[in-house]
Amino acid sequence: MSESHRSSTQILNRRTLEHDHRVLGEMLRPGMSVLDCGCGTGAITIGIARAVGTTGRVVGLDRDEMLIEQARSELSRKNLQFVAGDISLWQSVEQFDIVTAARTLQWIARPEDALRHMAAVCRRGGWLVVLDYSHRRNGCEPEPPQEFMRVYDAFLRWREANGWDNEMADHLPDLFEEIGLEEIRAIDQDEISIRGEPDFAIRSRLWVDSLDNLAEPLAASRFCEETELRQAQRVYAEWVETTLERQILALKAVVGRVPG
Ligand SMILES: C[S@@+](CC[C@H](N)C(=O)[O-])C[C@H]1O[C@@H](n2cnc3c(N)ncnc32)[C@H](O)[C@@H]1O
Repeated sequence: MSESHRSSTQILNRRTLEHDHRVLGEMLRPGMSVLDCGCGTGAITIGIARAVGTTGRVVGLDRDEMLIEQARSELSRKNLQFVAGDISLWQSVEQFDIVTAARTLQWIARPEDALRHMAAVCRRGGWLVVLDYSHRRNGCEPEPPQEFMRVYDAFLRWREANGWDNEMADHLPDLFEEIGLEEIRAIDQDEISIRGEPDFAIRSRLWVDSLDNLAEPLAASRFCEETELRQAQRVYAEWVETTLERQILALKAVVGRVPG
């Protein structure tokens, strides 16, 4: 039975449309309607609302009611609405020009069902734009300490046990084809952070901060003990400050058109 995972609001709030969902950003035009599935705290969704302007309309959808409450209380715009719901169940009479999901399908055990639902609420001739990770291809230079690598391996095994795809990004083009989308293209969107860059200090904290949120579910899953995880977090945090040169997060943006 698959569990669900709560994302770190600290990490979500750092993201922007321009930096963290670039392919979508380039496709947006004033007047478009967009559904953002798995919008989290809405940090990217607000950028979408700005880009489509007052003649456009944006709905942010997330199954986590706490995140939706936070988005509603902090981000207000006439053309923007936040709704609590599960992508694979959500029904809408409205059809959107673009339906997107960023870093969301990686947490869904049957992503093809979610994609079918996304296509069903997208207008004919409209676009699905999905951005996601392939966690197996993430990496660091040099290689992190063994303590961290053991916990990262537990993270991959825990995900696998829940049916969450550790190569989600790489499997998206085939899934797009399977559900009948056309004009499919995949764009590499690896996030590479290099020591010396202005945002390196913040971006290189991704796994340090993520481990706070992962501690409880990983310990409950028994893939690793909480004490082992906390020790790995301390060792890794220090290694990031002193030794990490390059952090690579493997992502792809995949675009496909709903047949017209
Ligand atoms: C890692 S966050 C990504 C947030 C944002 N899109 C971004 O790129 O920063 C994944 C989000 O997807 C949501 N989510 C996961 N499965 C979902 C589902 N089946 N239906 C709706 N939201 C879902 C989670 O609650 C979480 O807020």
